[in-house]
Formats: sequence, structure tokens, C-alpha cells
Amino acid sequence: MSQPLSPQTMALVKATAPALQQHGVAITTLMYQRLFVDPSMKALFDMAEQESGTQPQRLAAAILAFAQNVDRLDALKGALERISRRHIATHIRSEHYPAVADALLPAIRDVLGDAASDEVLAAWGEAYWFLADILIAREQELYRESELA
Ligand code: HEM
Repeated sequence: MSQPLSPQTMALVKATAPALQQHGVAITTLMYQRLFVDPSMKALFDMAEQESGTQPQRLAAAILAFAQNVDRLDALKGALERISRRHIATHIRSEHYPAVADALLPAIRDVLGDAASDEVLAAWGEAYWFLADILIAREQELYRESELA
């Protein structure tokens, strides 16, 4: 399990919630554009959901919910479980997570512009890995359970 986020990091992430509410889909749409430059990443996704905008909306909602609840993750338990199960169904592994970080963080910077100071981006970088570690741990458990079944 990853180290808890510091109160300062949580405050910085939480403070971006209004901007994410406004620009979340722009951020995730840009993130997917960056991610899909790599065909092996693109192949993991259902393109019909991308083109309908459903997937960017779901990811934007998840990121916003995380920003709003970063100091009380219990509120996200159900959502995290659903995401992990979806990831298992689409064969997502821990080695896929760095590419999403490399696509998401610049997308946050590009869309939020001046609102995304270096400090804010560093906080989001930490928060991404905190969330990713929770998902990865649960996904490893689910993969293990399915191998035993
Ligand atoms: C902290 C990181 C991540 C978050 C917060 C996240 C969030 C989500 C959410 C909210 C969904 C939709 C679940 C639903 O059906 O309601 C989803 C699905 C999905 N995620 Fe992630 N995800 C993360 C990392 C990744 C990574 C690293 C990959 C791999 C490149 C990935 C690939 C997918 C795929 C393939 C789907 C299924 C949707 C489709 O087929 O288009 N995710 N994720």
C-alpha cells in the first residue's frame, strides 16, 4: 500500500475540483489522444465507447470524484471496485499505469493552464500514483482469485 498523501497534497488536489468539474472531459479527451499515439495502448480500449464520448466522461467523473473525496476515500470504495473489475475484464496490468500518468498529467497542465502550477501538478502526480496503487493492488488480488477459480 502506498504512503498516505500529505494534508498539503490533498488540499492542492481538492482545490482543483471546480476546474476539473468545468474541464474534466477536455482533460480526459486530450489524455486519450496522447495515450492512443501508442497503438498497443489504443488496442486495450473499446473504440465505440471512446467515440461516443462515454469513456472520457467516465474517467473525468472518476478523477473529479477522487479530487473531491481525496481526504475520505471510503466514499469511493464502490467506484474503485467497479473500476478494478472493468480493468480486469479488459486485461489492464500494472505496467500500463505509467503511460496513463504520462498522458494525464500533461493534459491537466494543458487544459488548466496557469491554474496548474508546478506545485499543483506535483500534487496530482502523487495523487495519481496513490490512486493507481490502490487499483493495482485490488486488480492483482482479483487476477489471483480468477486464477484460483
Ligand atoms: C488511476 C488510474 C485510472 C483510473 C482512475 C481509471 C478509471 C477508469 C474508469 C472510471 C473506467 C470506467 C469504469 C466503468 O465501466 O464504469 C475505466 C475503464 C477502463 N480503463 Fe481505466 N483507469 C485508470 C487507469 C487505467 C490504465 C492504466 C489503463 C490502461 C491503459 C486503463 C484502461 C481502461 C480500460 C481499457 C477501460 C474499459 C473501457 C473501454 O473498454 O473503453 N485504465 N477506467
